[in-house]
Amino acid sequence: MEKKIGIACDHAGYEMKEFLVGYLGAQGYEVLDFGTDSPESVDYPDFAHPLAEAVESGELPLGIALCGTGEGMSMTLNKHQGIRAGLAWAPEIGALIRQHNNANVLVLPARFITNDEAVNILDTFLATEFEGGRHQRRIDKMAVAKKE
Ligand code: RB5
Repeated sequence: MEKKIGIACDHAGYEMKEFLVGYLGAQGYEVLDFGTDSPESVDYPDFAHPLAEAVESGELPLGIALCGTGEGMSMTLNKHQGIRAGLAWAPEIGALIRQHNNANVLVLPARFITNDEAVNILDTFLATEFEGGRHQRRIDKMAVAKKE
C-alpha cells in the first residue's frame, strides 16, 4: 500500500498525534495532518470530517484519528458511507480491524493508552491486510438499505 496517510485529532489527542506524526515520518510515510494544532479545546467533528472526506475520495488510502476515548471520532467518521473507522486499544484489535473489517481509519483512545501502545497498535494496523472472502460479504451488508 502507498506510504501516505492522514491524521486528525482533537485537543485530547493532540500530544499523541504530534508523536505519531514524527513516528510515521521516520518510517517514510507522507503524513497529511488535518489538525488540531494545539492543546486548545476544539470540537472533534471539525477534524474528523475533512479526514473522512480525503479517505472517502481516494486521496488517501488510510487515516488515523485520535480523541480522548476514540468514541466521538469513531461515531463521526462512521457517518461517512465510505469510511470504516475502527477503535483499537490493543495491537490485536489493530490487526483484526484490518483483517476482518477492512478498516480504512484507525481510531485511538488517546487518554487510555500510552505512546508506546499507540505505536504497537499502529504498526499492526499498517502491517495487516484485509482477508476478504466472508468478511467482504459482511462488509457488503453494513450500509443501511434505502427504503422505497
Ligand atoms: C474531550 O474532552 C473528549 O470529550 C473527546 O476527546 C472525546 O473523548 C469524545 O469522544
